[in-house]
Amino acid sequence: MNKRKILVTSALPYANGSIHLGHLVEYIQTDIWVRFQKMRGHSVYYVCADDTHGTPIMLRAEKEGITPETLIVRVHEEHLGDFTGFHIQFDNYYSTHSPETRQFSEEIYSKLKDAGLIAVRGIEQLYDPVKQMFLPDRFVKGECPKCGAKDQYGDSCEVCGAAYAPTELKNPYSAISGAEPIKKSSEHYFFSLSDPRCSDFLRSWTREGDHLQPEAANKMREWLGEAGENKLSDWDISRDAPYFGFEIPDAPGKYFYVWLDAPIGYMGSFKNLCDSEHIPFDEFWQPQLLSNTKTELYHFIGKDILYFHALFWPAMLQNAGYRTPTKIFAHGFLTVNGEKMSKSRGTFITAASYLTQGLNPEWLRYYYAAKLNSTLEDIDLNLEDFVARVNSDLVGKFINIASRCAGFISKRFDGQLVDGARYQHLCSVVDERFAAWRPDQIEQAFEQREFSAAVRQIMKFADEANETIHELAPWEIAKDPQRIDELLSACSLGIQLFYLLSCYLKPILPETARRIEHFLNCEVLTWPSLKDDQPVSDLLLPAGHRINVYQHLMTRVDSKQVDALVAANIHSLAPSGAQADSPARHAQKQQHSVTPIADMISIADFSKIDLRVARIVSAEQVTGAEKLLKLTLDIGNEQRTVFAGIKAAYDPEQLQGRLTVMVANLAPRQMKFGLSQGMVLAAGGSSSGELFILSPDAGAQPGMRVK
Ligand code: MSP
Ligand code: ZN
Repeated sequence: MNKRKILVTSALPYANGSIHLGHLVEYIQTDIWVRFQKMRGHSVYYVCADDTHGTPIMLRAEKEGITPETLIVRVHEEHLGDFTGFHIQFDNYYSTHSPETRQFSEEIYSKLKDAGLIAVRGIEQLYDPVKQMFLPDRFVKGECPKCGAKDQYGDSCEVCGAAYAPTELKNPYSAISGAEPIKKSSEHYFFSLSDPRCSDFLRSWTREGDHLQPEAANKMREWLGEAGENKLSDWDISRDAPYFGFEIPDAPGKYFYVWLDAPIGYMGSFKNLCDSEHIPFDEFWQPQLLSNTKTELYHFIGKDILYFHALFWPAMLQNAGYRTPTKIFAHGFLTVNGEKMSKSRGTFITAASYLTQGLNPEWLRYYYAAKLNSTLEDIDLNLEDFVARVNSDLVGKFINIASRCAGFISKRFDGQLVDGARYQHLCSVVDERFAAWRPDQIEQAFEQREFSAAVRQIMKFADEANETIHELAPWEIAKDPQRIDELLSACSLGIQLFYLLSCYLKPILPETARRIEHFLNCEVLTWPSLKDDQPVSDLLLPAGHRINVYQHLMTRVDSKQVDALVAANIHSLAPSGAQADSPARHAQKQQHSVTPIADMISIADFSKIDLRVARIVSAEQVTGAEKLLKLTLDIGNEQRTVFAGIKAAYDPEQLQGRLTVMVANLAPRQMKFGLSQGMVLAAGGSSSGELFILSPDAGAQPGMRVK
């Protein structure tokens, strides 16, 4: 076999958020592919890292009162813990905030600059005069210039879908301070993507060499236009201080935009691995060496970041003298029960919650595999289907084969499979009845990332195995002492078939495979490979092979576990450490004494209170205040400042963007820290001091009256 040398990456997750089941589509997909390639004996390196730079990370650290460096170290640990929990096996999981990534960023930048592909131009942008910083698009909000919808982000409208520049928003405000931004100009550095050395190169790169999936190539053609059309604009690669990132060497106060150094982080992570394991880095990155070494480079990404990987990245690499990717594999987005993941419905499920709720990570790996293919189509996690499929396929069809046959082998035959002439007979049965069980089709499906096709094929085999076992009915034969030989043959056949299925499923179920290796007393399950003239029976465990006592390999999913998982994620907006469904919290709730109901009022009394749905535009600590947070609330046609005594229960960051209910006609009150223009509603027991602010259901809009 030709041993391939393959470098594989998954996109680098941002260091400002938790890993969720959406992310896992990508990391599980990549991991399955990598494990498959490693099983076949290829030399594969799978690297990733946290994507640590940018404004959101800087601001989050600031809010937590820590440095960005401290924040990214903590998140790195969390992310790696989540990935390990799902058996994602990176060869290196690094950080973009690393000396290697800095060095490559500087080097690539200076090569592009020497090639005359960096231009400097002044541009005008929105600036927050209070916070004293330029505002990234996502940090400016206002009314959509097209449809007038309120509270839209600076780049696009979620109501009408319009895309625009933040300067086009009506009544813009800073999502950080709430202040009205001003226009201010500053010098920016651009990568000249419109230069023919980029655009012509990208046009041919897209057309030739099969670097992209067909849908992705089409998108690229759309973005690139025809030769001479010049649809590409130059790419702004600098940001002004304050910014968390790498300062541009010859430009004090200017930083590389996070998306410049993020893909370079792939190189940084790999370099870090190479240095510690003596892998020749250059063989993978120097174009002059490629014709000899034929190293392959693959990037697995979500379809949302295709633009960065299929345009900017190859153009940067090409013009800085590095090799370009062999292929870019883009996948679709995860939906849960047919809809976008939603915090209010509890379907925005974090990796950590899945694990802490005690669900088996391999259930999810199997389910995703059963759904994944090589296109950009979205994939749906239907929770009912998840339960049904895991139970019927994985446990019912696969694991059951072992559990039905293994007991007899250990109890009656001292763990030894059939030997001698009857082994020969077993082989001929396999070659007759199971001649189709060759690895070829499954192998091809895995190679082409058609995992759902691979799983379908494997489950078809499992069905065949079960039919045969059912016909042979070892549990019947076992009743007749005369038929002891038959019993051994039947159970040995079952175990042999189980062994083959386990090899095929190993890339998807690495942990179960590890336990099967012990059970079947095999060193490691490798990928079954057969020459054209070899029969399937050549793949089987040898005659008289001994196995160990069967121990249960996998339990069924209980739909209650899934319900509990969803319930645990409904409150993911609540303050951390106070998850509504944690046992401690539950016990506390039970202890709340119930306050007696107040005196009766009339509907007229009630309607004097003007309750409104409000969006928390920002929530900030108030210096010197023990209990208060300062909230900026949007109630449709105006913004209000309210000081709310919820500091003990909420982290300001978790409130931002959230909807709640406020008393809009409460007389304003002058407080030590400023004027409070209303009140937000919160539930709380008098004794414990805990508070829970109210949230309207999905669909409510700021300004709606609560009646
Ligand atoms: N930091 C960038 C990537 C830089 S790569 C040089 C980023 N990070 S991310 O955390 O937002 O996403 C990481 C990967 O997860 C991306 O490929 C993204 O497409 C993928 N997914 C994030 N949410 C997803 C779903 N809901 N469904 C499927 N994939 C998703 O983008
Ligand atoms: Zn709009």
